[in-house]
Amino acid sequence: MAAAARAAALLLLLMTIATTMMPPPAEAHLEMGAYNKTCPQAEDIVLKEMTAILGKSPDLAGPVLRLFSVDCLVGGCEGSILLDSTPGNTAEKDSPLNQGVGGYQVVDAVKAKLEAACPGVVSCADTLALAARDSVRLTKGPFIPLPTGRRDGNRSVAADVAPNSPPPGATIADIIALFATKFNLTAKDLAVLSGAHTIGRARCSTVSPRLYNFGGRSGASDPTLDANYTATLRGQCKPGDNATLVYLDPPSPATFDADYYALVAGNRGLLSTDAALLLHPATSAYVAVQANATSSDQFFADFAASFVAMSRLGVVTHHKGEIRQVCSKVNPPAAPATTSASAAAARGYYQLTTTAGLALITTLAVAHHLLM
Ligand code: HEM
Repeated sequence: MAAAARAAALLLLLMTIATTMMPPPAEAHLEMGAYNKTCPQAEDIVLKEMTAILGKSPDLAGPVLRLFSVDCLVGGCEGSILLDSTPGNTAEKDSPLNQGVGGYQVVDAVKAKLEAACPGVVSCADTLALAARDSVRLTKGPFIPLPTGRRDGNRSVAADVAPNSPPPGATIADIIALFATKFNLTAKDLAVLSGAHTIGRARCSTVSPRLYNFGGRSGASDPTLDANYTATLRGQCKPGDNATLVYLDPPSPATFDADYYALVAGNRGLLSTDAALLLHPATSAYVAVQANATSSDQFFADFAASFVAMSRLGVVTHHKGEIRQVCSKVNPPAAPATTSASAAAARGYYQLTTTAGLALITTLAVAHHLLM
C-alpha cells in the first residue's frame, strides 16, 4: 500500500477511535422518556402515586406545583430545594422567603415508590418535575409531555434565594427584568406561568399587607383590589393572623383553568404580583386575551410551553451531580454499590473504558499492519 494511502487510513482509524472514547457532550441535555430503558415504568409510577395522594388531599397539588417553580427559579431544576440544612449550611428550604413552601412529603412519597421499583435510577429533580407536571394534569389542566434526565445538584444555600426572587416592592418591570436576565424567560412566560395561581393557596401573612397596611399606611387597603373582595379577605385574614390559608382562585381552587385571568382582569388577583400583571403592556395584553377567551386551549398550550422552558433551567445532566437516594440528603460518600447511581455510573464508565480499550488495541494492531 502506498505511504499516503496508509497514512490516510491510519488517520481515519485514529479519528474513529477518538470519537469512541469521547466523553458525552458537556452541555445540559434532557430528552423525552429518558428512563425508557432504565426504568420504563417511572412516569406511570409517578402518575399513580400522585393520583392516590391528590385523591386523598387535593390541596397538595398547589404546593407541589409551586415547589417545582421554587426549585427551578433558584439555581435550576436540580432538586436543591429538597435538601435539608446541615450543620454549617442553611439550605434553600430554610430561607425566610421559602417559609410557605410545602409539598416535600409528596415528593418523598413518590420517590420512595420509584426507589422501590428502580433503585438509584430516577433523580429527585425529575421526581419533582414529573410530580408537578401531574399536579397540573390531575387538576384538569393540560398534559405536558416533559423531557427528563435531570440529575440532582448538591448545592443548596439559603443566601441564593433572595437574588433570584422578586425583591419586596418589586414592580412588574423589575419582575420582567428578573425573568429575562436570570432565567431567559419572557414577559409572556411570566404572564403564562402566573396562571399556575389558578390552583392553590397563599398565607394570610402574604395577603394582609394589601388588606391592612398598604404602602406602609396603617389601616389602608390596596385600592386596586376589588372592594368587595377586600372585605371578604378581611373576613378570612384577621389582623395578626399569619397562618390561615386563602385560595388564590376561590371560584375553582382545585381546577387548573384559565379563570385566573378573569379574576386578575376584574381586580381580584390575590397576590400583588398577580395584580401587577395589569400594569405592563406585555403582560396585561395576555391577561386581557385569556380573560375573554372562550376556551382554555390557548392558555393550556402556552402553559405547557412555558412550563417546559422553566423545567430546563439550570439542569444538571450526564456525569454531573448524582441520583439522590433520599431527596432531603446528598448521598453518603460510600453508598452501597448495589443501590448507588454512582456505582451504576462507574459500571458504565468501566464498560466504556473496556470497549474503548479493546477498540484501541484493535486500532494499534491494524495500524501496525498498515505500516508494515
Ligand atoms: C414572579 C413569579 C412568582 C411569584 C412572585 C409568585 C409568588 C407566589 C406567592 C407569594 C405565593 C403564596 C405563598 C404563600 O403565601 O405562602 C404563591 C403561591 C403559588 N405559586 Fe407562585 N409565584 C410566582 C411564580 C409561580 C410559578 C412559575 C408557578 C408554577 C408554575 C407558581 C405556582 C404557585 C402555586 C401553585 C401556588 C400555591 C401554593 C400552595 O397552594 O401552597 N408560582 N406564589
